[in-house]
Amino acid sequence: MKPAQRPPSNDFRAAMLAGLSRPEKRIPCKYLYDERGSRLFERICTLPEYYLTRAEVSLLGRHAPEMAVLAGPACRIVELGAGSTLKIRILLSALDVAVYVPVDVSRDYVLDQAQSLGGDYPQVEILPVCADFMRDLALPPHRGGRSVGFFPGSTIGNMQPGEAQSFLARLARLLRPDGLLLIGVDLRKSPALLHAAYNDSAGVTAAFSRNVLVRANDELAADFDVDGFAHRAEWDEARGCVAVHLVSRRNQTVHIDGRWFPLGAGEAIHIEDSYKYTIGGFQALAGRAGYVAERVWSDGAFSIHCLRPAGTDIAD
Ligand code: TRP
Repeated sequence: MKPAQRPPSNDFRAAMLAGLSRPEKRIPCKYLYDERGSRLFERICTLPEYYLTRAEVSLLGRHAPEMAVLAGPACRIVELGAGSTLKIRILLSALDVAVYVPVDVSRDYVLDQAQSLGGDYPQVEILPVCADFMRDLALPPHRGGRSVGFFPGSTIGNMQPGEAQSFLARLARLLRPDGLLLIGVDLRKSPALLHAAYNDSAGVTAAFSRNVLVRANDELAADFDVDGFAHRAEWDEARGCVAVHLVSRRNQTVHIDGRWFPLGAGEAIHIEDSYKYTIGGFQALAGRAGYVAERVWSDGAFSIHCLRPAGTDIAD
């Protein structure tokens, strides 16, 4: 099986050089997920403190029959950022799926995933697309049932709210006229629970964050002293997100490509925000992006929304 598109060029180097040159240093969060990072993230998903994955999987299991009714016959599921296959398997088992389109930047990942699912769901046509869904949302044409976008994991929370809104608006264009979006969104809750979820006691999250430095050392011949950086995840009440940083433990200088980047003791590199919404707050954002809230399932900690693109297009 061949993915429909070539992977985008490796722009990790450019992103690192630009991000470390800013007064407030940052590394875009998508670079956390190389092969080692993806494996560490899968371990995060099984940690006792990281309630998100368990909550979402159990909501999917419990409400898949209702999702099947909303999706209707012979639907096409388009999954944005194909992670572990646990969640999609629930939908492939419960919905009447004619076509499954996993979209992911990692070519190997979509192909492996397609292969493993193909054997178990021979009735489903699997059409992997290798693309960065933040840039490129084109899809192969589809005749048949509804297109159902599937965006689990509260990945929408890793975009800034304005960025999330324009992303959802672009996605609505793909799903019209009769498609739906199933999207997992983590909810606001006590800062203590959020703090624990992003600072696990086993240190897996810290290893995941610091892995982006390991990756820079491996791929860009950078010389980060990985142990010279501490993982810090803090609830930011004003912005409504958990903000994740790597904090330099001492004064140090990092070299990449003959350029040098001094860091002071306590200086932070921003690597991720994870926004948390109320159900109403997320529905309002979806409304601004051109959706009608069709249904929401929640256990109080996490939510899965079924959104329907409204008839009219909203400019992003
Ligand atoms: N989508 C995940 C989330 O927001 C990503 C994530 C979980 C993450 N733990 C992390 C990103 C720690 C950076 C660091 O929950």
